[in-house]
Amino acid sequence: MIAPQDLFPSIGPWVSTLDDTFPGAWIKPYFAQWEVLHILSLALLGGASILLNLRLIGAGLTDDSPSEVRRGVLPWLNVGVVGVVLSGVLIGTSNPERLYTSEAFTAKMLGLAAALVLTYGVALPAARQDGRLGGGAKLWAVIGLALFGLCVGVFGVAKLVNPGLWHVVIAAALIVLFVTRGVTRLIYLGGMGVLMAVQLALHQVVWKPDDYAHLDPANKLLILAYAAWILAAAALQIVSSGRTQSGGGPAVKALAYAAILVWVATAAAGRWIAFA
Ligand code: HEM
Repeated sequence: MIAPQDLFPSIGPWVSTLDDTFPGAWIKPYFAQWEVLHILSLALLGGASILLNLRLIGAGLTDDSPSEVRRGVLPWLNVGVVGVVLSGVLIGTSNPERLYTSEAFTAKMLGLAAALVLTYGVALPAARQDGRLGGGAKLWAVIGLALFGLCVGVFGVAKLVNPGLWHVVIAAALIVLFVTRGVTRLIYLGGMGVLMAVQLALHQVVWKPDDYAHLDPANKLLILAYAAWILAAAALQIVSSGRTQSGGGPAVKALAYAAILVWVATAAAGRWIAFA
């Protein structure tokens, strides 16, 4: 078990008092309203992060340089990050046991740490230098990717919530669809079509939709096949687009993909708290 209660057993008595004291007791009757703030903040940071990192990949707002896009989105990104953390802590104090016993919450907090490092330590500095990665950013990239790996690892083994990783795979698939062009996009779409047809056949023809004994291992193989096909198309896009559009090299583009997907993984873990 990898829930906060397994990692920090000694804080259990303190956690159980949080929803009887301020601010938890005060937030509890208005949980839904505060959660709307949580989702709106997520939409704001999500939009800003996608625009920033798509520009580093060489797509999106390409009429402006990465440093100009950074200047435009930075205030919204900051408001979104502060908003999602503040509203998260407030709704968290009104429902502390749910988070304390949730493996999805562990994956979420690892994701949040990775997202802050990859956004403020890598993507924003790289955009300020129009796609160049300084020494400090390279170190933060290693730390951020390690934390992201841990987040995906915990998400992957967490009971009942690991289907949430499909959110990350589908987000990656959509980014690649958006940034690829011409023949690459057609071949990519063809491959995705084959994988989806296989998935449909397995779930609807070969086995019954509730035959988990067969479908669980099949889904694990399928998610690896999707990830491999999406990664191959992304790598081809990164290499074939070279330094032209963003000024950033392959490493900066690959890190920009990660800097979007890490927020998707964090949000997916947030969504799956409710399921386990
Ligand atoms: C310290 C940081 C955070 C805390 C304490 C926190 C806490 C929470 C809590 C208590 C819930 C409600 C869970 C439930 O009972 O269903 C929630 C839901 C959620 N959180 Fe967070 N959160 C934090 C940061 C974030 C971040 C950074 C993101 C996104 C990038 C995020 C995305 C979500 C999403 C998508 C939901 C599900 C909302 C729904 O559809 O019901 N949270 N969070």
